[in-house]
Amino acid sequence: MNLDAVTDLLERRIGLDPASLGPTVLPAAVADRMRALGLADPAAYAGRLAGWPEEFDALVERLIVPETSFFRGGGLFDELARRVAASLPVLGGRPFRALSLPCSTGEEPYSLAIALLEAGLDPQSWVIDGIDLSPRLVEAARRGAYREFAFRQTKRELRDRYFLPVADAWELGPPVRGLVRFRVGNVLDAALAAAPSEGYDLVLCRNLLIYLTAAARRQALATLERLLMPGGLLAVGHAEPQILAGRPFRRCEEAQYFLFRNDPSAAPPSTLPRTRADAKPGVAVVPRPAKSRKATPRPEPVPLTSAPAEGPLARARRLADDGRLEDALAECRKGLEHGGASADAYCLLGVIQQARGDESAAAEAFRKALYLAPNHGEALAHAMLLSARRGDLGHAAALRERLARLGAGGKP
Ligand SMILES: C[S@@+](CC[C@H](N)C(=O)[O-])C[C@H]1O[C@@H](n2cnc3c(N)ncnc32)[C@H](O)[C@@H]1O
Repeated sequence: MNLDAVTDLLERRIGLDPASLGPTVLPAAVADRMRALGLADPAAYAGRLAGWPEEFDALVERLIVPETSFFRGGGLFDELARRVAASLPVLGGRPFRALSLPCSTGEEPYSLAIALLEAGLDPQSWVIDGIDLSPRLVEAARRGAYREFAFRQTKRELRDRYFLPVADAWELGPPVRGLVRFRVGNVLDAALAAAPSEGYDLVLCRNLLIYLTAAARRQALATLERLLMPGGLLAVGHAEPQILAGRPFRRCEEAQYFLFRNDPSAAPPSTLPRTRADAKPGVAVVPRPAKSRKATPRPEPVPLTSAPAEGPLARARRLADDGRLEDALAECRKGLEHGGASADAYCLLGVIQQARGDESAAAEAFRKALYLAPNHGEALAHAMLLSARRGDLGHAAALRERLARLGAGGKP
């Protein structure tokens, strides 16, 4: 069966690279649709597909991969909550704006909303949009009812706190319902890039780029870059960092999360794959001019950690970036021993300990950082979220107040 015309239409309209689905998925889906329509000729089917929007949508529904789950990506959502908390004091009173594109059935944007609520952040201080190509999936996201399987990466207490059991599903409870605005949209639609008057501080675009053709990836990334504020964050899926090579993004410090900061001045080499796991042979690195969107003046978000460019602390941060947490820990300790105790060093130590899963040691490191520099914004944000996570809500609230009082500073 010659499917060139079908493939061409899918690529042009939604950017789908049918090869990314494997060799059998497209032929099987087309055969099904042809049977349903009583057609025997693939050329006739291609004509129907081009002229009938309903048929195009029906085929797309057969091809999209809706795979998602709550809190997919390990500690990413805690990390994002930490970053949102650290950014709020410098946003001048406006809300933090986040977009999940594609949002599928809503698990990703709702996870972000739950993480922000868990961090004690006032829902008035952030907005979250969710966009997906599929009207069916967007409708399911609005309904907010999920099977047990959707919680396979979710702590049970979070599910129990935010969802109500109904028949064979879990329904999103009132505190989160309504905190995400959903709509249907195609990442390749030019109107999407032009739509919002203000950019987003965070875009989650995970597990979409891998399914797109090279041309569609470029177009999608151009749209994402226009949607993002300068300095905004982009989260991609674990197989997608290399797709950002040559684009104006700089990978954030935490190597285990696939999180990038939009940096129009980033030189192409800084966006090259950082770890061997990220690198894929045969991926072209196409340098490209910085984005054209005019930078709206606003303070830079508070960086998560800071360390000098050279010396053990800088090495520790680079090692942590590469996921070599034990080496990073050793180097950071060396920095503390030889360079003297500093709030920055203890803050970095806390971040590394937390990434290693040692929350007690992380809390102790943040405590030391704040002893040395009580107004250290980064350490305050980390300590606050860690306290909330460990259930010490009183301490978390006190730290949040201190962070809020800091205003636009964030550093001692
Ligand atoms: C694998 S899911 C990813 C969901 C979520 N981001 C995650 O990682 O858990 C891929 C989603 O991309 C959506 N999609 C595919 N092509 C799209 C396009 N051109 N524009 C917007 N969404 C698209 C599909 O409908 C599907 O819901």
